[in-house]
Amino acid sequence: MKEVRVAVLGASGWMGKVHTMAYSTFPHFLGTAHGTARVVALVEHNPDLLKDTEVRAPDARIETNWQSVIADPDIDLIDICLPDNLHYEVAKAALLAGKHVYCEKPLADTAAQARELADIARAKGLIARVGHAFPRNPVHDLAKDIIQSGEIGDILLFKGCQHIDMYADPAAPFMWRADGKLAPTGIVGDTGSHVFSFMDFLVGRVSSLIADNIISTRMRPVVAGSQLGRGGELTGAEEMAEVTNPDATNILVKFANGASGIVDFSRIAMGRKFRQTYEIYGTKGSLAYDYDEVNRLRFYSNADRSGRQGFREIDVGTENATYRAFLPLPNFALGYNESKIIEAFEVIRSITSNSPAWPTFESGHHICQIVDACMQSSRTRSWVDIPAAA
Ligand SMILES: NC(=O)c1ccc[n+]([C@@H]2O[C@H](COP(=O)([O-])OP(=O)(O)OC[C@H]3O[C@@H](n4cnc5c(N)ncnc54)[C@H](O)[C@@H]3O)[C@@H](O)[C@H]2O)c1
Repeated sequence: MKEVRVAVLGASGWMGKVHTMAYSTFPHFLGTAHGTARVVALVEHNPDLLKDTEVRAPDARIETNWQSVIADPDIDLIDICLPDNLHYEVAKAALLAGKHVYCEKPLADTAAQARELADIARAKGLIARVGHAFPRNPVHDLAKDIIQSGEIGDILLFKGCQHIDMYADPAAPFMWRADGKLAPTGIVGDTGSHVFSFMDFLVGRVSSLIADNIISTRMRPVVAGSQLGRGGELTGAEEMAEVTNPDATNILVKFANGASGIVDFSRIAMGRKFRQTYEIYGTKGSLAYDYDEVNRLRFYSNADRSGRQGFREIDVGTENATYRAFLPLPNFALGYNESKIIEAFEVIRSITSNSPAWPTFESGHHICQIVDACMQSSRTRSWVDIPAAA
């Protein structure tokens, strides 16, 4: 049994904690036959956030700068849970040092950066994986299986959305996610990349699009320590900071296989705490998914006889090996953290078996191409073509 030695960067943030948990948890459900992971370093530059690290990763040393773990010959995998603007620089340094990389989405700030990372990973034969998480819920393997088996025919139309309301309130405090220097593409890279990951996984390459980016509130109060749009009471004396990346985007899409798409996402949909849906319409049937019923796929087949047609609800359950590994009964539901546990397991399995698994940096690059095209299209107010990868 091979043990992969991991450094988690951005270790005390949301993703840093989830990833650290996922490495120690996956063997409980998915076994050790494909290897195990030991978190040997936690990198976190905010000392206030370094409490309880011995509980999270008992064998880990604590570092405050990421360069030191990249230089460590005993570390196999660099796990990047840092703010978006650091992904490219850190991933590039890690790959050049011969480390496998598991990087949170979006892979990079630009498609050119993502291309460079994918090329280095390929040239060096390293495992390079993006943390898109949501499509790793087995319910989406069911959707892919139905599509690949031809049960909905040729895909004609994809509709997808993802909405939250962290910035619907104009008084919600400023944070790094709204800063164009730290998160250059705003909601497009942050949330859009999740919808784009479903498009990449289920439909295929995007060939062109037209997008409209929106900033709803230009100036927001700065409140120390606030996260994800929440903060303490405002005094009215706060400094204001400018939001310099998009809050929301509406897009029309053309796929290389001839399908069309309508996609929208935002952080300003008041009351939508987390909404994520897709609908896929084909020549023989349709699929519909809504995160509110996290393990449920709706499938319509035009082959059903007249008078019996309608969307049937299929809950992914114990017939699926990944679901069964977690739960012995149907309809108990796998949630977000399980999708991350599955992802961490797959990263380790890819490393120990030298077999990349979706989404590699190639998919990460295509998703960054879509993000780039949204930014360009909204700026130029025109359709943008996306070239096929070299
Ligand atoms: N896949 C998903 O579903 C998902 C969900 C949330 C976030 N993300 C992505 O994960 C990344 C992190 O997001 P988050 O929500 O965990 O953010 P966060 O703000 O909760 O955590 C980031 C952590 O990085 C630390 N940090 C920042 N700069 C650092 C540096 N130079 N060196 C060391 N530590 C540093 C911060 O102190 C913080 O603890 C982002 O790229 C985000 O887009 C992905």
